[in-house]
Amino acid sequence: MVSSASGGKRCVIWFGHPEVHERMALAAEGWQIRAILPQGTEQVGIRGSDIVVGLVDFRHASPAELEWVVAHTARHPLIPILALAPPAGNPASHVARELLRVCAGQFPGDDLKPVLAYLRTLGNPSLAPSHPPSAASLMGESPALLAMRTLLHKYAGIDLPVLVSGETGTGKELAAHALHQLSQRCQRPILAVNCGAISSSLLQSELFGHEKGAFTGAMGRRQGLFESADGGTVFLDEVGDLPPDAQTSLLRVLQEGTIERVGSNQSIHVDVRIIAATHVDLEQAVEAGRFRRDLYYRLNVLRLPIPALRERNEDVELLAEHFLASFRANHAARARGFSETARRALREHPWPGNVRELLNRVQRAAVTAEADLIECADLELALPGGFPDGHDDAGFTNARDHLLACLARSEYNISACARRMQVSRVTVYRMCHRYGLELETLRTSFA
Ligand SMILES: Nc1ncnc2c1ncn2[C@@H]1O[C@H](COP(=O)(O)OP(=O)(O)O)[C@@H](O)[C@H]1O
Ligand SMILES: [Mg+2]
Repeated sequence: MVSSASGGKRCVIWFGHPEVHERMALAAEGWQIRAILPQGTEQVGIRGSDIVVGLVDFRHASPAELEWVVAHTARHPLIPILALAPPAGNPASHVARELLRVCAGQFPGDDLKPVLAYLRTLGNPSLAPSHPPSAASLMGESPALLAMRTLLHKYAGIDLPVLVSGETGTGKELAAHALHQLSQRCQRPILAVNCGAISSSLLQSELFGHEKGAFTGAMGRRQGLFESADGGTVFLDEVGDLPPDAQTSLLRVLQEGTIERVGSNQSIHVDVRIIAATHVDLEQAVEAGRFRRDLYYRLNVLRLPIPALRERNEDVELLAEHFLASFRANHAARARGFSETARRALREHPWPGNVRELLNRVQRAAVTAEADLIECADLELALPGGFPDGHDDAGFTNARDHLLACLARSEYNISACARRMQVSRVTVYRMCHRYGLELETLRTSFA
């Protein structure tokens, strides 16, 4: 019996026909294969500790068989699905497209090595990045980021509250964790709460705990976040959303270092450092009467403002490369880098969602890109205005016009247009979709 570290089996459900050498390669790595076919009545018995992966073998699958696979996989939505030899270009059938959309990875059909590499990362926590965030995990070389790292090191050793401010997705939470890791409190926990995400009645008990019977449903005594984090750090995210009663209790922690559980009037001493984050201007909230002024002054001792990503444009490419490399370390991905046009698009985009938006776009692109280099369309970014010198399409400032012109010169043949634009056929289809270009209509008007 082959088993995983968790004691369960490791099993690949192969929808199709594995070759003998493929069975042997998987077995050699400790994976069982269950080959199941539409005719089969086989049920997949799965225990909680099993690691199970579905693999859709597109080499032989007919549309009817794919329908059956879709139905089968829909019953087990938590099992990751891999695609072996997915159809090139735009998959012909709707079911095939549907399957590829939910696939965790797509692999060539002539070499099982990338599949094996992917499987090795599953259920092996040592291969997943697990280092606690440090000042070094805040990537970037821009002057703004260097200044931020310097502040982090300065603040780490001082046991005062820190107020981290910045737009959403700029890295406030990451900075808070880095600060904690750099501080003397790093051996103790850092516990985080999003003050805006919990109802005000629950928040009070979440932060400060409650006594048995303090309110309906309080079956037993419960420790709050401040008690659990004793000796460590409490990270209050979106502190501007803190309801008035919790503001008062927090002020007490800051002034006296004590808390009271809900339903008790006994003071409990807690030793925590508070890091608070906000994306709203707290000063304005104070003016508007939504935030206690005395609390604001107490929190606003050491300030860590994090600039928006568009204000540290130098970091964008470096971050994008870092995110792609991290993705590739854990997943099979064809793309190894970014095309020159994609790089320009990355530099020109204003990044309203900041680093989180960049991370999401890069991860999505790494999953969908079909070539070695990620293109603008994979990132779902508009082609940058103007084209590099020497490009025979120089002068086009509009990505849609450019696409239209390439299509026209290729007589609306997708493969020819893809070659002309040096992108994949799928990319051309995607761009047509994005710019609302109906190929059939164009072809008809061309004919
Ligand atoms: N400088 C950076 N280097 C590497 N990753 C970053 C950086 N800044 C942000 N991130 C990543 O971007 C995402 C959003 O950051 P987060 O700290 O949650 O932002 P915020 O709390 O400001 O909304 C996270 O996945 C985080 O790890
Ligand atoms: Mg956040």
